[in-house]
Amino acid sequence: MREERSEVEQQRVEEQLERIAQRVRVCTRCDLWRTRTQAVPGEGNPRAEVMFIGEAPGYHEDQQGRPFVGAAGQYLNELLQRAGLRREEVYITNVVKCRPPGNRDPLPDELAACAPYLDEQLEVIRPRVIVTLGRYSMSRWFPTEKISRVHGQARRVGNYLVVPMYHPAAALHQPALKELVEKDFEKLGEIISQARAETAAMPDDAPQEKPQQMRLF
Ligand code: URA
Ligand code: SF4
Repeated sequence: MREERSEVEQQRVEEQLERIAQRVRVCTRCDLWRTRTQAVPGEGNPRAEVMFIGEAPGYHEDQQGRPFVGAAGQYLNELLQRAGLRREEVYITNVVKCRPPGNRDPLPDELAACAPYLDEQLEVIRPRVIVTLGRYSMSRWFPTEKISRVHGQARRVGNYLVVPMYHPAAALHQPALKELVEKDFEKLGEIISQARAETAAMPDDAPQEKPQQMRLF
């Protein structure tokens, strides 16, 4: 977890995330609001260094209003352990915040309508590492890449280190992928340690935090 934010800043981050979540819960920007039980804004540690971004809520997520709580979520919890992470220290969300009926793939207009919420969550949390789960979140940063070619490889995009991963549900449905996914998550642990060492040497938060501190004190 990141320690460089003051308590006051931390409080602001939490409030900003809650305001985003409140807007997501009543959002009608695309038609998915008509069939959802509950929107799933995302959850996790506001101090998260690592943000996991999946595709869209499934049945259980839609029922509970929480991300990755079904079978794929159980498996994700195991994978997090392999990376040396606890669920409580990361932030988990999806590119689309409401369940597509029958778990169909999200449509381009739904992805576009929902994207600003993820943008805001990223701006507020400012993770060091973004882990994309599946092709819809991958294509946000690497629109032309193939997951079979780039899975598990970290690339710097601006201030973020982005690591595309296979979706945990894909590994559950295709046993041949399981070993690959588990290795990728083990490697993720090392990638995160490296990212920490880099930012310790050169803090990327400085430009954005100075003005906030000046306003506060
Ligand atoms: N699959 C996803 O992509 N997201 C969830 O929240 C659950 C399953
Ligand atoms: Fe709004 Fe996103 Fe839900 Fe569509 S999927 S209604 S854009 S929160």
